[in-house]
Amino acid sequence: MLLSVSVVLLSICIVRGDPVGCTYYESDLEYECTARSWVLPLALSDFNHVPQSLSMIDVNGDLPTATFSGFDVINTTLFDVNFVPTFTIRCYTSGILMYHAGTFTGLGYFKEVHIQNCEVIAMPDAALQDFGDLNYFGLENGVIGDIGYDAFKGLNVHTMTVPRPLGTFKLTSKLDSRVIPNGVLYALANVTNFVIDGANVDTLQADMFQAATKLRHLSLKNNLFTSLHSSMISNMKGLLTLSLDGIEWECTCDNLWFLDYCRTNNISLHGPVICGSPSSYINKRAYLYKTEQCPVEVLAIDPCEDNLPGIGVGTTCLTYLDQAVYLLNALSLSLVIATVLITIHTKRQEEEKDELEMKPNVEEESFRKLSGSRRNTVSAISTVEAEAAQARQEDDIVDSLL
Ligand SMILES: *[C@@H]1O[C@H](CO)[C@@H](O)[C@H](O)[C@H]1NC(C)=O
Ligand SMILES: *[C@@H]1O[C@H](CO)[C@@H](O)[C@H](O)[C@H]1NC(C)=O
Ligand SMILES: *[C@@H]1O[C@H](CO)[C@@H](O)[C@H](O)[C@H]1NC(C)=O
Repeated sequence: MLLSVSVVLLSICIVRGDPVGCTYYESDLEYECTARSWVLPLALSDFNHVPQSLSMIDVNGDLPTATFSGFDVINTTLFDVNFVPTFTIRCYTSGILMYHAGTFTGLGYFKEVHIQNCEVIAMPDAALQDFGDLNYFGLENGVIGDIGYDAFKGLNVHTMTVPRPLGTFKLTSKLDSRVIPNGVLYALANVTNFVIDGANVDTLQADMFQAATKLRHLSLKNNLFTSLHSSMISNMKGLLTLSLDGIEWECTCDNLWFLDYCRTNNISLHGPVICGSPSSYINKRAYLYKTEQCPVEVLAIDPCEDNLPGIGVGTTCLTYLDQAVYLLNALSLSLVIATVLITIHTKRQEEEKDELEMKPNVEEESFRKLSGSRRNTVSAISTVEAEAAQARQEDDIVDSLL
């Protein structure tokens, strides 16, 4: 009896063949192993099916260096190419996760890695490098304590030839420190899609994405920072989309530089950009602030792009040819003005001279000011005198004729 029970148990074990705590889901070619009952290490040789995808669930604690055994010899030629090999660690509600350099030995065949809902106490240096090339790496929900400077060393997240090419690095866990340590992202130089959403980030360094020259999409939604360094995205020459909603922007004309920058550089800006300050613009659109508060400067779009070389003035292009013509016009105008001024000046001078010559007749001037009757008398006298003179002249002429 005991023997037959043993035989039955033995045969079940042989048929099931899987590690304790691990269940196979054929439709997804995936194993799910629960921390509630697994016995570490998980040995590849214990799996009845190829663990093309593997989820470690209900995690709350330490994944020691010897968590996986023999995975480095997995035969990937048996994989179904329609399924991307995916590794997931999903923590039990508010469960903690600790891992170390060596925890993930042999797991380099996975192309996507998700760490979900975990309170990661610390991300040790070089502990993720066993994953090597990845199409996707995500720290999703949960909380992150300390991030080592070399936490992502050896991880090469890039767009891979898989059914859904991504090249995505996603961080939606809340950072205890509210900052991604300077230089930590330099190891992720081949990422095409950075998603750092709802991560409690309140400080962005100007050069944090400096190495990410292949970036196409950047999402920084729902964080605590209130402005963006202008040099932060200026080296992302291939950037196509920038998602910035859920930020309480400190609206100033300087801080809103990116509105013009995105338009000029064909970067589509996703999500409403809403002011968190000043108080008169709280919950109002940054575009409104800009329209009402910021003087229209030289447009970032170069109006001379399709013209002869020149200088952009507002929306029009002042070509060098135009400028030369304007200069000539200005010159001739100033010549005309100069001539007119000189003429006026000369005329003035002549008039002044005349006035000076008339000065001796001050008496006559005072005569004019005499009362009307007296004046008339005076002019009457002079008329009489003139007539007398004329008569004398005529007499002289007559005399000479005689
Ligand atoms: C992997 O599996 C294929 C198909 O079964 C086989 O031909 C190949 O020899 C295996 N490779 C290794 C390294 O075991
Ligand atoms: C980026 O990809 C190139 C190959 O395209 C590789 O040589 C380089 O090591 C990768 N960089 C990182 C930081 O993984
Ligand atoms: C911006 O995008 C438009 C429409 O796709 C395109 O016609 C234009 O050439 C682009 N400009 C630049 C500077 O890339």
